[in-house]
Amino acid sequence: MQDILIDTADGVMTLTINRLEKKNSFTQPMYATMSDALQQAKESSDVRVVVVQGHATIFSAGNDIGDFLSGVAGGTDAPVFQFLRAVASFPKPLVAAVCGPAVGVGTTLLFHCDLVYAGDNAAFSMPFVNLGLCPEAASSFLVPQMMGYHRAAEALLLGEPFMAEAALEVGLVNRIVPPTEANALAQAQARKLAAKPLSALMETKRLLKKSSVAPVQAHMEDELKSFGRMLREPAAKEAFTAFMEKRRPDFSRV
Ligand code: COA
Repeated sequence: MQDILIDTADGVMTLTINRLEKKNSFTQPMYATMSDALQQAKESSDVRVVVVQGHATIFSAGNDIGDFLSGVAGGTDAPVFQFLRAVASFPKPLVAAVCGPAVGVGTTLLFHCDLVYAGDNAAFSMPFVNLGLCPEAASSFLVPQMMGYHRAAEALLLGEPFMAEAALEVGLVNRIVPPTEANALAQAQARKLAAKPLSALMETKRLLKKSSVAPVQAHMEDELKSFGRMLREPAAKEAFTAFMEKRRPDFSRV
């Protein structure tokens, strides 16, 4: 079974994260598949809208920790970073359906989506500090912009999960529904968008994003340099090793 399922129908390309045995965590090949799909969606006149969805019990546990530990997620041109640049600059509407945990990039990619529908079991978290890392995907810019500084600092410094209701309140999600209905709602909204004139959708999205293009790019590139360096440092190594060994990390010496 493929880890990313790609299906195109009625002008909507759907990317389904499908690595349930590892809680839909993303490996580098999965990022590469999604980047290629976004490139194809951008170029193809058959695709007017892209939907990203997971399972009713889990959206994504974020980056594969084993990939972090082995170093394959390191360089600034690694597939993960190519994917983040592709998501941030994607010119057609992006719709997400999120249920269960959305960890790390599972949450930060949502800040680049245009519409987000959540199951009432959705739990968003950005535990970068807990992993000895810093924010990515321009979340150091987009999270405070959306939530205000103090809520962003709580989310990014403490890294604790916040639930669907809190995400609705800060504007990260558009609507909350039972988990079994989230993917269907995202599909229905995507089909509504796909029936509209694509040029008007794209021009409206471009204008909506205009003021954030330069800061998003600048934050993302700044974050990537720090993130790549921090992946190799002792705090992150301890956090990743502790996760693999199913124990609490010991940061007393880092
Ligand atoms: N990378 C690699 N493997 C992961 C993973 C990740 N990010 N998240 C979960 N898994 C694996 C677990 O190691 C476990 O594998 P095993 O069955 O071989 O032991 C399996 O997926 C199930 O995970 P488990 O933790 O038992 O599930 P859970 O339902 O108790 O918890 C999460 C789900 C998502 C809350 C929890 O797995 C988690 O916190 N994952 C790590 C998230 C993270 O820090 N991601 C990086 C963000 S930058």
